[in-house]
Amino acid sequence: MLQFDVVTLFPAMFDAVTGSGVTGRARERRLYELVLWNPRDFATNSYRTIDDRPYGGGPGMVMMPEPLEKALGAARQRQKSSGVSKPRVLHLTPQGRLLDNQLVRELAGEQGLVMLAGRYEGIDERLVGRVVDDEVSIGDYVLSGGELAAMVVIDCVVRQLPGALGDAESAVQDSFANGLLDHPHYTRPELYDGAAVPSVLLSGNHADVARWRLKQSLGRTWCRRPDLLAKRNLSAAESSLLEEFKREAE
Ligand code: ADE
Repeated sequence: MLQFDVVTLFPAMFDAVTGSGVTGRARERRLYELVLWNPRDFATNSYRTIDDRPYGGGPGMVMMPEPLEKALGAARQRQKSSGVSKPRVLHLTPQGRLLDNQLVRELAGEQGLVMLAGRYEGIDERLVGRVVDDEVSIGDYVLSGGELAAMVVIDCVVRQLPGALGDAESAVQDSFANGLLDHPHYTRPELYDGAAVPSVLLSGNHADVARWRLKQSLGRTWCRRPDLLAKRNLSAAESSLLEEFKREAE
C-alpha cells in the first residue's frame, strides 16, 4: 500500500481527497494510506509559533525550520514503521520541477511519499537542503499554499495505482498516457440541438472508430499542444493520419 504523509497547517483541506470520488474509493480499498501532520504540534514555544519575519526584511512571514523538520521527521519515522525503506520527501513550491505525466508515473512507483505543503512566503531555505529530495510545482502560478498542489499529486498518483479505476475506465486511455491529448467523447442523444454525433462512432466498426479517435488525438495535440508533438516521434501511420486531419481541417 502506497504511503502518503503530508505536513500541513490545514489538515482538514485533505478531506476533499479522502472523502469522495476515485481517491475516496481507493482509500476505502486500502490502495493507499494518508496521514497528516500539523507543524504547530511540533512548535517549541508556548505560543506554538511556526513562522517569523524574514531576515533581510520584506513583506510576509517565513515558516521556521525546526517545527517543520520535527514534523517531517515524525512523518518519515511513521513511513519506515509501515515498511517504506526510503520515503521520498517532496516540497510543493512554484520553484519546483513541473509535474507532468512522466513524474506522476515515477511517483506512483515509490513506496512512500512525504510532502511538505508550505504557507506564507515560503519555508526557511536551510530546511530544503537538509530533508527535501525534490521540489515540485503543479504549474506557473502561485497558490496560497502547497495543500492544493499536494492534493493534485495525490489524486493523479492514486489513479495510476492498479485497481484504483474500474475496468471500464483506465489510466492507459487518459490524455498524456501515450504522449497525446485525448480524443473527443460523445453520448446520447444522437442529435443534440442540431449537432450530430460523428457518424463513424455509430458505425459499429471498431477499427474505424479506433482510427478516427487516434486521428482526433493527433489533430488536437497538433492544434492545442504542438510542444507535446515535438517531444514525440510519430509512426508512419500516425503521420499520415495527422496529414489527413490537417487536410480535413482546411
Ligand atoms: N505552492 C504555491 N504555488 C504552488 C504551485 N504552483 N505548485 C506547487 N506548490 C505551490
